[in-house]
Amino acid sequence: MKIAVIGTGKVGRALGLTWARLGHEVVFGSRDPGQEKCQTLVVEAGEQATAATIPDAVATAEAIALTTPWSAVEDVIRQGGDWTGKIIIDCTNPIAPGLQLAVGGDISAAELIAGWTKGAYVIKAFNTTGWENMIDPIYDGEAITMFICGDDREAKAAVRRLAESMGFEVADTGGLKTARYLEPLALAYISLAGPQGWGRNIAFKIVRR
Ligand SMILES: NC(=O)c1ccc[n+]([C@@H]2O[C@H](COP(=O)([O-])OP(=O)(O)OC[C@H]3O[C@@H](n4cnc5c(N)ncnc54)[C@H](OP(=O)(O)O)[C@@H]3O)[C@@H](O)[C@H]2O)c1
Repeated sequence: MKIAVIGTGKVGRALGLTWARLGHEVVFGSRDPGQEKCQTLVVEAGEQATAATIPDAVATAEAIALTTPWSAVEDVIRQGGDWTGKIIIDCTNPIAPGLQLAVGGDISAAELIAGWTKGAYVIKAFNTTGWENMIDPIYDGEAITMFICGDDREAKAAVRRLAESMGFEVADTGGLKTARYLEPLALAYISLAGPQGWGRNIAFKIVRR
């Protein structure tokens, strides 16, 4: 699949390198594709990877992962131009200062993004675990859980396949409005990993009996 990764920070790097390793064609969409951080990442990702401006990355990709701070998302969407028919993998978390949700309750960041990108297929994914787990989602031989949700069946199946190929067990929580539950779950992860002192080598996993 041709995947654009918008943002070349911790999550963009982890996802882009992993997807390139799995054989996908990755284009890193950056505010400044010529910057050293971005060029180094392209070299690290290998032959199939390139860097581009945000509009060029969006225009050429089938799927676009949003990995910028929430505060930058609306601007990224505007810069992206025409999102019709694209799969948007929303990895963002709408975090406000003081470890609070900037949006939540009866709305989610993912639903706002869907409202800004009519004709695109927004799937929430990769927001409930740390970037380290996107590189290695195996704990003691067991796959950790990646929660996803979205309204379009085919787009969600594509994101499910992507997450499974990375080594995650996928749990589909339902339609895009269930992002209202997945976004606060990310805050629980951050609170555990940071203030509660568990560290970042932790992950959510569903168990059954
Ligand atoms: N860190 C985690 O473990 C984790 C896990 C799950 C989800 N998330 C979510 O994923 C998103 C990215 O997190 P991250 O930790 O990867 O962030 P990060 O390391 O700060 O990287 C964000 C990247 O977004 C781009 N960007 C675009 N507009 C920006 C702006 N106005 N200000 C700053 N950066 C801008 C930058 O790439 P360019 O310089 O190339 O434009 C930057 O490197 C956030 O929404 C976060 O809540 C994070």
